[in-house]
Formats: sequence, C-alpha cells, structure tokens
Amino acid sequence: MSYTPQRLVMKTCFHLVGLLAGAAVGSAATFDPLSHVNLFIGTVNGGNTFPGATIPHGMVKVGMDTDGDNFAGYDGRPEYNVTGFSQLHQTGTGGAVPLSNFKLFPVPECSQFEQCLTTIASRKTLRNILPDGSPDDFASPGYFSTNLSTGVRVELTATRRTALHRYTFPSTSTTPRILMDVTNDGQISAISPRTHYRSPDGSDDRQDFVCIHLYAELNIAYLPASANFATSFGPGRYDAYACVDFKGEGYTFSGPSEWGPYKINYPDKNGVDLSQHYYSWGSEHGGLLSFPQDVESGTTTILARVGISFISTAQACTNAEEEIPNWDFAGVVSDSETQWRDILSRVQVDTENVDPDTVTLLYSSLYRTHIVPGDYSGENPAWESTEPYYDAFYCNWDTFRTLYPLMSLHDPENFARIVRGMINIQQHEGWLPEAREAGKPQRVAFLCGCFENLTLHSQIHPGRQHNPDGDPVLGEFFVKFSDHAEQLGVSATDLYNALLADAEDTPSNWNLQGRQADVWKEKGYIPSDTTYPGGANTKQVSRALEYAFDDFAISQVAKILGKTADKEKYLSRAQNYRNSWNANITVMDGSGFTGFMQPKFANGTWNFTDPRHCSVHDPLQATCFLNAIRRDGFYESSPIVYSQFVPQDTAHLITLQGGNAQFIDRLNWIFDQDYFDSTDEPSQSIPFMYHYANAPGLSTQRSRQIISTWFNTSLNGLPGNDGAMGSYAFFYLAGMYPVPATKQLLLASPYFPKISFYNPIFNKTTTIKSINFTGNPTNGTGGNVFVKSVKVNGEPYKSSCYLEWDVFTAGSTVELELTDDINVTCGAGEDALPPSISTGGFD
Ligand SMILES: *[C@@H]1O[C@H](CO)[C@@H](O)[C@H](O)[C@H]1NC(C)=O
Ligand SMILES: *[C@@H]1O[C@H](CO)[C@@H](O)[C@H](O)[C@H]1NC(C)=O
Ligand SMILES: *[C@@H]1O[C@H](CO)[C@@H](O)[C@H](O)[C@H]1NC(C)=O
Ligand SMILES: *[C@@H]1O[C@H](CO)[C@@H](O)[C@H](O)[C@H]1NC(C)=O
Ligand SMILES: *[C@@H]1O[C@H](CO)[C@@H](O)[C@H](O)[C@H]1NC(C)=O
Ligand SMILES: *[C@@H]1O[C@H](CO)[C@@H](O)[C@H](O)[C@H]1NC(C)=O
Ligand SMILES: *[C@@H]1O[C@H](CO)[C@@H](O)[C@H](O)[C@H]1NC(C)=O
Ligand SMILES: *[C@@H]1O[C@H](CO)[C@@H](O)[C@H](O)[C@H]1NC(C)=O
Ligand SMILES: *[C@@H]1O[C@H](CO)[C@@H](O)[C@H](O)[C@H]1NC(C)=O
Ligand SMILES: *[C@@H]1O[C@H](CO)[C@@H](O)[C@H](O)[C@H]1NC(C)=O
Ligand SMILES: *[C@@H]1O[C@H](CO)[C@@H](O)[C@H](O)[C@H]1NC(C)=O
Repeated sequence: MSYTPQRLVMKTCFHLVGLLAGAAVGSAATFDPLSHVNLFIGTVNGGNTFPGATIPHGMVKVGMDTDGDNFAGYDGRPEYNVTGFSQLHQTGTGGAVPLSNFKLFPVPECSQFEQCLTTIASRKTLRNILPDGSPDDFASPGYFSTNLSTGVRVELTATRRTALHRYTFPSTSTTPRILMDVTNDGQISAISPRTHYRSPDGSDDRQDFVCIHLYAELNIAYLPASANFATSFGPGRYDAYACVDFKGEGYTFSGPSEWGPYKINYPDKNGVDLSQHYYSWGSEHGGLLSFPQDVESGTTTILARVGISFISTAQACTNAEEEIPNWDFAGVVSDSETQWRDILSRVQVDTENVDPDTVTLLYSSLYRTHIVPGDYSGENPAWESTEPYYDAFYCNWDTFRTLYPLMSLHDPENFARIVRGMINIQQHEGWLPEAREAGKPQRVAFLCGCFENLTLHSQIHPGRQHNPDGDPVLGEFFVKFSDHAEQLGVSATDLYNALLADAEDTPSNWNLQGRQADVWKEKGYIPSDTTYPGGANTKQVSRALEYAFDDFAISQVAKILGKTADKEKYLSRAQNYRNSWNANITVMDGSGFTGFMQPKFANGTWNFTDPRHCSVHDPLQATCFLNAIRRDGFYESSPIVYSQFVPQDTAHLITLQGGNAQFIDRLNWIFDQDYFDSTDEPSQSIPFMYHYANAPGLSTQRSRQIISTWFNTSLNGLPGNDGAMGSYAFFYLAGMYPVPATKQLLLASPYFPKISFYNPIFNKTTTIKSINFTGNPTNGTGGNVFVKSVKVNGEPYKSSCYLEWDVFTAGSTVELELTDDINVTCGAGEDALPPSISTGGFD
C-alpha cells in the first residue's frame, strides 16, 4: 500500500503549474517541486507525520483525525475510522496525541436533529477505499481531501491562523449537518468548554449561552467556542479559542435551518445554556447545525471557516475575517501553494538518471522541514511583544543537528524569525525554549527523539531530563548570518545574552529550560551522584557531552563578536567532553574496543555503564527512554553511540580511540553490529565521521546505505518519529552533512547530477554538479559516487571532504569529479581534513 509519485502527480492537476521563481537548473522549465511532495510518508509505523494543510510554519495545521496510532492525527491505514477534522496538530512527536482541537464533522443523514449521533464513538466513519486498497485521501502542500464512506467529500486548506473546510454532501443528504466537537482534543482533556454568543459588531460577547449566532445579512452563522486543554508532554494546561462560521458555496442560505448544542448523543435543538449541560453530562460536548439543501445542484457544498486563537474568541473571529475575507477556497489553496513553492523551489535538482522516488524523497523531506516550529505571533497569552513568537519546538535536541543548518542554506528569513522568537522567550522566561507546546515549556524526554515502541510512553515515570540545545541553534544562525543579523532583525547583543544566560544561570527546574550550569562550571562534567536539587538526576553523561557542544557554539559566537576572553573560556569548556572519557572500559562483546564515555561521581571515581546499554545488544534489554530512577547516565542512545558525539573535536576523539585505522574499525563495527540506530538523532552524524579519518568514500557509502535501507516513499518510509528525520535525509540525499554552529559542511556526492541552493539573503545560487554522474546504486553500495576531486568556480579546491560557507555566500559552482574507487581521500593539502578544535579550530 503506497502512494506512488504517479498517483500524486495525476492528482495534482487541480492546480495549474506556474513558472518557477529563481534560476531553474531542472531538466524541464515546468518542474514543480510541489508535485514531488508526498505528505503521507511516515503516517504509519511511528513516523507520526502530519499530512494535512498548513502554510510553511503555520500555526493552524488542519487535518483529518482517525483512530490508529499517529500522534499527528491521521493514520494512513484504511481500516481506521475518521473521527473529525481538527484545526491544530503537531508533526513527528512522540509521547501522547497533542492538540487536535475543535473537530468538525459532517453528518449527512439523520431522521431529525434530535436523533443525530454526535459522540466521537458513534459518529466514526470509514473512508472510501480505492481499488488498490488504499483510502481515498489526497494531500499536497496546502491542501487535503478525502471521500468518506457516507458520501461526503471533505477538503481542507489553511492560512496561518485560520482553516477553511469544504464539505460536499451527496444529493441524498436532504438536511446536511455539521457538528463541532469542543471537548475531544487528542487527549480528551478539555475542561470548561464554552460556546459563546457574539454579536456581529462584537459588542455582546456572552459566554455560556446560545452557541450559534445567525448572521443573516451575510448568510453566515457564527459558532465561537473555547476550552481549556492539557499539553501533551509536560506540565501545564492551555486555553484555545475557535470561531467557526459557515457559508454555502454555489448557493445562498440565510443561516442554518436548525442549531443547538449537544451533549453526548443528545442534540438540544435551540438549546441555550451549554455549560450546565457540560457539568452534568461529561466530556462529549459541542454544537450541531443543519443547513438547507442546495436543491438546484443536488450536491450541497458548505464552507466552514475556522479562526483559531490562544487569546480569545474575539481574536479567533478577527483572524478568520482578516485572513480569509472572501471565502475563496481555491484562492487560499493557491496562496498556500505559492508560499510553499517559493521555499521549496530554492532547491533545484537535475533529475536525469535519477529514480523519481528519490526526487520525491528529497522534496518531501524538505517540505517536512518547514512544518514546525509554528509561527504563533500575536497568539502568546503570556506577554505582549512586537517580536515574532514561535511555538511547537519539537525539540532543539532533535533539530539543532540538521534542521536549522538546512534552513541556513535556503531560508534565513524564517530561521531569523524563529531565533528572534527564541530570544524573546529567553528575555521573558530566563532561558531559551527547548520543547514547547501551546506556550508551555515541555519535558524534553517525553517528546524528543524517537519513540518507535509506542507502548513505552505509558511506562515512563514522570521524571524528566533536559538537554538545552538552543545554544547551537542560535550559534548556527550567528555563525552563518552575523553580517546580516541586523538586516534580519536579530540583535547580536540580545542573542549573546541569551546564550550567556543558558551557559551561566542555573534555573530552579533544569528539566524544562536551561541547564545544570552550576555543577557543570564547578566540575566540568555532570556527576552521577543524585544529590543535586533542581531536576531529575539522570542522563548525566549525555547531558555533559551536549553541554560541551553548547559551549562550543557559544565560543564560536564570542569569536565573531571579538570577545576573546569569552571565546577562550567557552572553547575550554567545549573540551570538557574529555572528562567523561574513560579509557579503561572494554566492551564485552568480544570486539575488544576500549575507551568509552562513562558516568563519573563527584569525587572523581567512575561508575560503570555497560557500553552496549540501550543498544540492540544490551544484555539487560533496557530502553534508553526517560525514567527518573534510571541511573545509566545516557538518554535514548547507548554509550557506544554517545562516545562518537564530539563534533567540535572529532580529531581528538580519533586520538582517544587509537588513531585513524582503529577509528575506522570502530565505525565499521558500530554499523556491522547494528549499534547505529537509524531511528534516533544522536546516531545521525556517525556515517559521516569517516571523513575525519581521511576516508570520505566510506562516509558516502554508509550514508547511501542508510537511505536505501531506512528511507522510502511508503507510508512507513521513516525509521522512527520524524523529529528531524526530514532534514537529515535531505542532507544525505544532497551529499552533505552539516557541523552546526560552524562555517563548514561535510561533503559527499549528491543523488543528483546537479543540485542548487538559492539563498535569498545573499541573492545567490550555489550549484553542485557531478561532472560524470551515472546514477545511484539502489542498495547504496558501490557505484560511481565517490568524490575524487573538487573544483569551485573552476579552481581546484583545498579539500574534497568539506565546503566552506563562503562557497554559498558568494554563489558558486562546485564541480565534483566522481569515481567508483571507494578509497578516495580528502586531498593532500594541510587544510584537506575538516576542522576540529585540537587541530587548529574552526575559522
Ligand atoms: C470503524 O467503525 C465501525 C463502525 O463503528 C466499526 O465497526 C469498526 O470496527 C471500526 N474500525 C476500527 C478499526 O476500529
Ligand atoms: C473524491 O471524489 C471526487 C469526486 O467525487 C474526486 O474528484 C476525488 O478525486 C476523490 N478523492 C479525493 C481524495 O478527493
Ligand atoms: C514494546 O515494549 C514493550 C515493553 O517493553 C514490549 O513488551 C513490546 O514487545 C515492545 N514492542 C515492540 C514492537 O517492540
Ligand atoms: C585504568 O585501570 C588501571 C588498572 O586498574 C589503573 O591503574 C588506571 O589508573 C586506570 N586508568 C584510568 C584512566 O582510569
Ligand atoms: C565516590 O562516590 C561514590 C558515590 O557516592 C561512592 O560510591 C564511592 O565510594 C566514592 N569513592 C571514594 C573513593 O570516595
Ligand atoms: C552506577 O551505574 C549503574 C549502572 O547504570 C546504576 O545501576 C547504579 O545505580 C549507579 N550507581 C550510583 C551510585 O549511581
Ligand atoms: C521503507 O522504510 C521503512 C522504515 O525504515 C522500512 O521498514 C521498510 O522496509 C522500507 N520499505 C521498503 C520497500 O524498502
Ligand atoms: C538578485 O540577483 C539577480 C541577478 O542574479 C538580479 O537580477 C536581481 O536584481 C537581484 N535581486 C536583488 C533583490 O538584489
Ligand atoms: C569522471 O570524469 C573524470 C574527468 O573527466 C575522468 O577522468 C574519469 O575517468 C571519469 N570517471 C568515470 C567513471 O566516468
Ligand atoms: C548491491 O547491489 C549491487 C548491484 O546490484 C550488488 O553487486 C551488491 O552485491 C549489493 N550489495 C549489497 C551489500 O547488497
Ligand atoms: C580500497 O582499500 C581496501 C583496503 O585497503 C582494499 O581492500 C580495496 O581493494 C580498495 N579498493 C579499491 C577499489 O582499490
């Protein structure tokens, strides 16, 4: 059961393909990246991806909710029933089902208003099933549609804060009805649900009364609603508000013919006071409306416009009226497509000799890089600010590695707005956000990384762990865009102060924001002892390794700002990873590898964690998920994997691990014995580490083998929770891997004879060409894919292992000479190997 590109291309015909912005290097002038995006990848098997309608980084993500186990609402398996079409979703998260608030649902048939079944259990409906066994669903950037077994067609599109639904009822539906469910969010957590009365001029806004207002002149009925909901991965509840109104398409009606609140399966025609019903009737609560049939055309088409706000129902209504004033469904779809096309077409590929699935994989991965975080500007209930406000950070622990470096290449404007939003949060809350939902800081452990075993979250003790990885995100921005920071509205001073707060101040609860800075400063590692107040004393080793990298990012920023003393201080702290290295530990799997990152007590003596812990070969079969009583010192990955995480000083790691030959043997052992975990972010940099041992051909082959084994365009085409899997797969396909907060990108060969990146802030396009590309080996092994030499703008380049950022700022032509000899090297010059702190540092 898969969505083939052919089917997607055919079904994209509803929109005329326009000419592309920017310099096209594609083989055809009409190449449209939108027709190569498959939104259904990862909707089953734990990818938890969202296939509904949103603009890039939109707040509203309107989509279909089904039974099943996709935390983003939609399950691609046809046997699962549809439960509603809700306005807010996340993508790629684990833990529990977030958001999914304010579900609308079409009810084509019931003998009379009072007889309609409204609860989530009784209204469940299957989708139509196509001859190939797949459900009759379609999605493309900015648009989603389905055909329900009841004969109703549902189409969805969205602006930033407003969803537009289109319900087409069959001719048999003489009294088409639509319900709005106020209480069943993803966790069925609502309390205080309210539908409101609001007069057209806004002067009368009474809560708890008649839920439906007839706005006869405009043929519109308003249904404002709100409730208080639980966040899905941590403490806190939030209020959300909706404002729904309805309009006939192709016919007019002077308001709904019947209306009223419902509780459980009892719609109350012309009923008034809803709150009373709620407290006496439990959690099933909402409003139901009947509409006159469109007799002339038989099929009745009704538009529902749903404004959303985290401030008030009045603001939800304003959002709807301002963002979708004309009820122009096709126009909203087209605007959304324009925004997506603008961003996605900054990456152009030559597809000659490339499998169409590979093209789909590239653009689908790029698309998913722009779903979260979401632009919630104007919707922060906690404080007022003219700065952008972003929410839905899922979470920096996942995204600092590849997602923001990918934004650096093609989308610095959105990146800058996200950074401004992060700094603004630091200024009001004291620390940079790490994980965040609906304005509430969330526990890192519950939603970062990949929960491929979905039964696990129910066993997780509500203890937490924190990896504060906002620092490399800000570092990445500033290292790449310091010359344009002011133009992009980012204050260097505020950015630096936010970094210092993270590095120096210890918050009262370092599970949620900030880090255990006091102990880190005193010891240079995070001791295993459990005597420290302020958070769960877990995951000390993996946190220490990340603190070291965070401090490296700060030293990079200090260097640019000319703060020499700070630069040295943080550079020194960046080398504290050495304090967690225990040279004496030999892994007990017969391989003989010695020396691993290990937990250490405050008194300087070592504790011991089996290096295989949390791997597939863990003798205890432990998971690495968070549990406050877990004392192993590592988060979601084995000590074997974390012992490879020193991106700031891989050269010294090679020394610790016995030199190039032994380092290569160790990497091979990690892959051959499946210690590499494709589902989890800490493993993601390992395939490219051969570069540092002057064996870049091995990196090229490993990264290609990973793509061919774990990434494809099927519904289950992601190895785990999406998190940052999209940007990760994108880099492998583009033949690069970033080192965050540095000016270097590791280089391999792209899957395309040409790939180009247009960067709007530089107004420059950089093209990487393989001068003798002959295609990609399907299993990732062998092939004419190894980079023998590199030229930039016709001149031989200093390295065939990495590119400097100035190649991209200037707009360059990079030419790769390919060979089938895997034993290529980085070159002979002194700058041939990628930089590390201990070999002279990063310039
Ligand atoms: C879908 O709903 C129908 C009707 O309520 C029910 O018979 C069926 O078991 C449901 N399917 C699943 C997978 O729950
Ligand atoms: C649903 O049915 C309509 C025609 O009734 C058709 O045009 C459309 O392709 C079908 N599928 C989806 C997913 O909309
Ligand atoms: C998930 O974990 C539970 C508890 O450890 C285990 O019983 C179950 O077999 C696991 N499921 C899968 C699919 O690995
Ligand atoms: C390694 O173990 C040996 C023998 O037990 C001991 O002498 C040495 O100090 C240890 N080294 C480290 C770094 O712990
Ligand atoms: C160091 O601390 C650990 C944990 O508290 C303790 O078990 C160990 O005995 C201590 N070792 C020394 C030499 O004090
Ligand atoms: C030492 O590590 C082991 C293995 O992870 C753990 O079970 C134990 O609790 C740790 N000891 C202390 C004192 O933290
Ligand atoms: C697609 O990827 C998934 C997840 O990594 C994997 O389980 C599945 O076997 C792959 N399918 C194909 C046809 O390669
Ligand atoms: C961007 O560069 C192109 C030439 O490559 C030029 O025509 C255009 O005017 C530039 N745009 C801006 C905004 O500078
Ligand atoms: C690739 O191109 C280079 C330079 O033109 C040439 O020397 C080499 O033989 C070519 N390799 C293949 C496999 O075509
Ligand atoms: C990969 O495919 C090539 C060509 O089909 C084949 O020769 C090779 O044995 C395969 N390698 C692996 C590891 O499957
Ligand atoms: C690459 O090097 C390995 C190990 O030295 C050797 O076995 C292999 O034959 C070499 N491959 C080529 C194509 O020269």
